[in-house]
Amino acid sequence: LRIIIINGPNLNLLGRREPEIYGEDTFEDFMIHLRGKFVDDDVDLTYFQSNHEGLLLDKLHEVGFSYDGIILNAGALTHTSVALADAVAGIETPVIEVHISNVHKREAFRHHSYISPVAEGIIVGFGLRGYELAVQYFL
Ligand code: DQA
Repeated sequence: LRIIIINGPNLNLLGRREPEIYGEDTFEDFMIHLRGKFVDDDVDLTYFQSNHEGLLLDKLHEVGFSYDGIILNAGALTHTSVALADAVAGIETPVIEVHISNVHKREAFRHHSYISPVAEGIIVGFGLRGYELAVQYFL
């Protein structure tokens, strides 16, 4: 099974960015933990992060016809990007939308997602554990 985690803007700052909201773990450390959790499973876990909308689109197009699952945290682009939603709608690989924080108990502008209507499912507010739950779903 080939699964990719795609993180959008500012998620490279995890561990340093507003730790009271997003936690103190870096994503690189978390990836070691995550790969360890699934060593016994036939799963190849790739990680990609970009702060650039176009690079996120390119990556979705690149993996979206061959991978088995995409776990997408588009960061703030979730709330603004019609282009990312169109990409998710246009590819074949199912996409699970993940948010580390519970966006629904935060500012109103975080309550709307362009990604949700085209996602297979949504995991919100469970911290980094949300990525693990998404991998479990694909397995
Ligand atoms: C986020 C929530 C977004 O509103 C925010 O812009 C982020 C992170 C989350 O994982 O909780 O960058 O996607």
